[in-house]
Amino acid sequence: MPQATKSIYINGVWKASENGKQIDMLAPSNGKKIGAISRGDKADIDKAVFAARSAFEGVWGQMAAVDRGRLLSRLGVKILENIEQLASIEALDTGKPMTLARNDITATARYFEYYGGAADKIHGETIPFLNGYQVMILREPRGVAGHIIPWNYPAQMYGRTIACALAAGNTTVLKPAEEACMSIIRLTELAHEVGVPPGVINLVTGLGEEAGAALSAHNGIDFMSFTGSPEVGTLIQKAAAENHVPCVLELGGKSPQIVFDDANVDEAIRVIIAAIIQNTGQTCSAGSRVLVQRSIFEEFMDALAKRFRSIKVGSHESDLDCGPVISQVQCERVKGFLERARKNGIELIAEGSLDETAVASGFYVTPALLGPVDPASELAQDEVFGPVLAAIPFDDEDDAIAIANGTQFGLIAGVWTESGARQIRMAKRLRVGQVYLNAYGAGGGIELPFGGFKKSGHGREKGFEALKEYTVSKTVVIKH
Ligand code: NAI
Ligand code: MG
Repeated sequence: MPQATKSIYINGVWKASENGKQIDMLAPSNGKKIGAISRGDKADIDKAVFAARSAFEGVWGQMAAVDRGRLLSRLGVKILENIEQLASIEALDTGKPMTLARNDITATARYFEYYGGAADKIHGETIPFLNGYQVMILREPRGVAGHIIPWNYPAQMYGRTIACALAAGNTTVLKPAEEACMSIIRLTELAHEVGVPPGVINLVTGLGEEAGAALSAHNGIDFMSFTGSPEVGTLIQKAAAENHVPCVLELGGKSPQIVFDDANVDEAIRVIIAAIIQNTGQTCSAGSRVLVQRSIFEEFMDALAKRFRSIKVGSHESDLDCGPVISQVQCERVKGFLERARKNGIELIAEGSLDETAVASGFYVTPALLGPVDPASELAQDEVFGPVLAAIPFDDEDDAIAIANGTQFGLIAGVWTESGARQIRMAKRLRVGQVYLNAYGAGGGIELPFGGFKKSGHGREKGFEALKEYTVSKTVVIKH
């Protein structure tokens, strides 16, 4: 575990914040202090952006694409070699069960493998133009990319945003979340070890309103990538607007699982439960609403409830279905939703259970299935970011679409039906960035373009699509 009091990495050198301040890091499983990070602010961000600019204009900008790709691929291999250590750090720091942490580290490595392979496959095109002319469209990196990421999947977010930005030829300044960023410190050490040159990845740990705000408002960045809450997403976009910097925002959701009466119920239930309890519900694409056709609502709820009651919660080490949530604040936030639902008379259909490792000093909530929930109510509209599933009955396709699309979000959706024609109709009408038919991928699929409609954000991450965000075209006209 890095004792990360020098957790700021600028131009290839580890240092403490200019102001000398620190932030304590707590283990969600028991609330105890596990280390501290530097509380960087504008002074550190200024230096990091300067280093990133120098590297962009120097070593990184001059490196052949194939060599950039090789470095990223090498980092992917290095991450897999260190999987147990990285997974232990991630599990301790976020509270997630070890099995999930291992999956996360594997995915992190995959991002570096995938984008490492992509680095020399990003190319422009030519365009027919007037006689006597040739036009080339170059595809160039944007320059210095700013990254602000959340605490729910720190390592994976590092892979998702940093690997893509670097493959496209950008240099980076990253401000991770103050709640959990220990794996990111270790990943950055590994990047250093494999030879990523100084200034290419710069890491400034600190608070959102200090280091984060300074980064998003910096006039030395060319691009901004943010994952987190819609409220902070608005601040990021406003700051970016001041400098006319483009941004990608990934802001969470209230993603529906829509179950028709002809669905394979057993398979649907297995996947629906996994998609709400993964990472204790703290996943932007968690399937947090289950919409069930009225004709099978009661029967489906009975079967879902039975399986829901078997969900077990414990410490990251006990490696059960769910760990704790990230913090006391998040714990109270989730419990607040449950308390208000109870006051509003929404029935608690089923609960999971806490095991003996879920100690009182940790940040534990009991997974809950509630319903029927009015589609207009808070529980059906707002992102809980906890293991809370809201069940909503619907009558027919039109009704399902109205309810599914009837929130401020639009990230992903699952549809469960054996009818092929209905699958296509639903996929086309859902206002979301990913539709799964008889499947669901909360957080999954590094190859698959991912992003939102409406308040779930804009721009696309993952896959080749994300490389378009991190590059810009330049038109070159030649008279010959
Ligand atoms: P947040 O949006 O405050 O934090 C995300 C990142 O933004 C962190 O790195 C934080 O330091 C940074 N940040 C915070 N304030 C900032 C500012 N003024 N300027 C620049 N950066 C800033 O999210 P928070 O408070 O951790 O969680 C609140 C809710 O947001 C959650 O309950 C959940 O609903 C949602 N959320 C969604 C995530 C997703 O994956 N889409 C991830 C985390 C939170
Ligand atoms: Mg916040």
